[in-house]
Amino acid sequence: MTMRIGCVGCGNMGGAILAGLARNAEQNRDQADAYALCGYNRTASRMRPLEEAGVQVMPSPLAVAENADIIVLAVKPYQMQEVVKELRPALNKDKVLVSVAAGISLHNLAQWADAICPVVRCMPNTPALVGMGVFALCLEDPKLSHDCKQSLLQMFGKLGQCVELPEEKFTAFSALIGAGPAYVFAMMQGLVQSGVTLGFTHAQSRQMVTALFAGSARMAQEDASPLGQLRDNVCSPGGLTIAGVNVLDRAGLTGLLVDAVLAADARGAEMERKGG
Ligand SMILES: NC(=O)c1ccc[n+]([C@@H]2O[C@H](COP(=O)([O-])OP(=O)(O)OC[C@H]3O[C@@H](n4cnc5c(N)ncnc54)[C@H](OP(=O)(O)O)[C@@H]3O)[C@@H](O)[C@H]2O)c1
Repeated sequence: MTMRIGCVGCGNMGGAILAGLARNAEQNRDQADAYALCGYNRTASRMRPLEEAGVQVMPSPLAVAENADIIVLAVKPYQMQEVVKELRPALNKDKVLVSVAAGISLHNLAQWADAICPVVRCMPNTPALVGMGVFALCLEDPKLSHDCKQSLLQMFGKLGQCVELPEEKFTAFSALIGAGPAYVFAMMQGLVQSGVTLGFTHAQSRQMVTALFAGSARMAQEDASPLGQLRDNVCSPGGLTIAGVNVLDRAGLTGLLVDAVLAADARGAEMERKGG
């Protein structure tokens, strides 16, 4: 059956979700679970590339809610309540609202929608912009049917990795995976800088370092050995790698990463208490 998916707020994240689904629908035209996609964005010009990709442009948030069964809300957190109010007349028990807004609780979403339809919280990370995101989905609303949960897992699974988490784990997810690209880019920056120090051009160094991360990530995905084992495999006795790794161990890189994630988690919990 065709799934009707709409998005209100088609900026970076909403646009990436619609574009990813449109790409997927184009690649799997023959499959039964095709998507009918629509969207609305305040600044109309942002809809142009999405329209070219097959997304139907709607004249208002209300029209999105009328024409979709799964309604993704991807406006900024402070705009969320107003947008839910706008589309409220088209909501009913057969629609589902999916918010990607950081720090907006299921409780608030349900309240703004007068508890008329199920609500879902979703937390993506920025690699979603290139079709390789990790999405946390909170499917705890008792109004959600089994079929609807499966449809949502399937839909977000097409955009990257999708994990189902209880809402109480959302801050931890944000601290580890939402913030994660910042930790990875910081490590990449250090390695690119060392490449330049050793005489490579910046462009060469960046190209090699990004390939290094992609290749290492693929190895960690495909080889179930403990990460310490994968690391030790690179360290020949008396060789150059162990000389470098000794410096990282002395500086406590692993402990630093743990501290960084715990600090982000503590800050996230504080923000969640204040409502974003
Ligand atoms: N970007 C990320 O990596 C990321 C990660 C996790 C969660 N999120 C969440 O995703 C949401 C969107 O973030 P973003 O980075 O994609 O921001 P963004 O690029 O600014 O996108 C928000 C879009 O919403 C549009 N908009 C504002 N009010 C609207 C309304 N009443 N009706 C329709 N469209 C409206 C804006 O239109 P204009 O073009 O007119 O400004 C803009 O295009 C946020 O809630 C954020 O917490 C983002």
